[in-house]
Amino acid sequence: MGKKRLGVGFIGGGFIGRFHIRSWVGVRDSDIMGIVDVNSDTAESTAALVKGLNVGEPTIHGSITDMVADPNIDALWIGTPNFTRIEVMEEIADAVVSGKGELIGVCCEKPLGRNVAEAKKMLELAQKASLLDGYLEDQLFSTSVQRGKSIVWARGAALTGRPFLARSAEEHSGPHMPWFWEGELQGGGVLNDMMCHSVEVARYLLTEPGVPRESLTPVKVTAHTSCLKWQDPHYVEQLKQISDGKLDYANRPAEDFARGLIEYRDNDGNPLIVEVTTSWCFVGAGLRLSMELLGPEYSMSINSLDAGPKVFFSRNVHGETGEDLVEKQNAEMGLMPVIADEEGEYGYTGENRHMVEAFLAGNRPDENFSDGVNVTELLMTAYMSAEQGRSVEFPPSDLDTFIPAVAQGKWNPKEKN
Ligand SMILES: NC(=O)c1ccc[n+]([C@@H]2O[C@H](COP(=O)([O-])OP(=O)(O)OC[C@H]3O[C@@H](n4cnc5c(N)ncnc54)[C@H](O)[C@@H]3O)[C@@H](O)[C@H]2O)c1
Repeated sequence: MGKKRLGVGFIGGGFIGRFHIRSWVGVRDSDIMGIVDVNSDTAESTAALVKGLNVGEPTIHGSITDMVADPNIDALWIGTPNFTRIEVMEEIADAVVSGKGELIGVCCEKPLGRNVAEAKKMLELAQKASLLDGYLEDQLFSTSVQRGKSIVWARGAALTGRPFLARSAEEHSGPHMPWFWEGELQGGGVLNDMMCHSVEVARYLLTEPGVPRESLTPVKVTAHTSCLKWQDPHYVEQLKQISDGKLDYANRPAEDFARGLIEYRDNDGNPLIVEVTTSWCFVGAGLRLSMELLGPEYSMSINSLDAGPKVFFSRNVHGETGEDLVEKQNAEMGLMPVIADEEGEYGYTGENRHMVEAFLAGNRPDENFSDGVNVTELLMTAYMSAEQGRSVEFPPSDLDTFIPAVAQGKWNPKEKN
């Protein structure tokens, strides 16, 4: 490729855009050189964050096409809401194919699409524009996951046999923007929003280091979804208020709890299990990520809320509410955990380093849109299983056309009673 530094353009400077930008202080050989956001105030404040951290000199562009045409831009990071995926990727592909500008690659936040058809379309568009593609699943690159996985495989697995069970969970008290709560816009409820992380990180932990994902074959998926908290009238009203009356969880809820069991086989036919849990009704200190990896003579466990220092504030400390201790923080008093380096612990720094290095070397990233398609296939099978109340063999025949009932506004567990 001959490029020494990668100029990156951000599409979407919201919550996740800012997380990525903060991680850039630990990313080498790259500068953030462009921002596009439909909200001009957000574009301005995001550009100011970039400059304040000294991680680039971004131009605010009026369109994705203009940003592709900017010679300072070599790669794009997509961090816009799920319902914009296809229009955003179509504009990128059109701009490149019609010669408006040149790009090396594109990265896209999770989930790659709201369903399998959308995820496959994202892959097809990246290939049509001959772009290297990175799927932004940060948890794989978490410092704890990377270190824990390598030690367990090098010591425990090498001497006593491969791990056979991986558990992972992501839980918090609910998303920060109304569109996440709406099944049609987001693609589902918490299963689509957060189980995408848990499914992929558990699969990654079970996969031998350096060996491709095809060494594990998914054979069966069993899942359950519920709405445990947010259909209670008090919380229905709360959601109405944060959305100017748009969210109607009494009649059009999405699941706030989901669990899944994915049965895999390894290359020797041995059974392996992935067990995942996600929820939007965990009221603890804040976001909690947990993972476990179990083998014949060993185990490994991670809990993001146990990773750093703890602070204690007495009842006389009446500060403002914030997210300065931990993401999705629920309290500012009492004994509270602090995540010292959220960008590293959640995986953003390692993820972005990897994507930049791969693009500069002209290589497809290790985590790419094909992985995003695989994740979506597993999630849609999980929705099928939950809707049908039975285990579903993988892959089911109608996977490519399946849209979960919750994404069609047709799921309401209360109607069963
Ligand atoms: N990896 C993670 O853990 C993680 C965490 C949060 C969000 N995400 C993903 O990141 C994406 C964005 O989530 P968020 O929390 O930042 O959402 P958000 O609503 O906070 O921010 C989205 C931003 O995109 C802008 N936008 C909307 N449509 C646009 C368009 N067509 N073109 C340009 N800008 C547009 C909005 O103005 C806003 O600034 C979602 O797909 C979400 O699933 C991932």
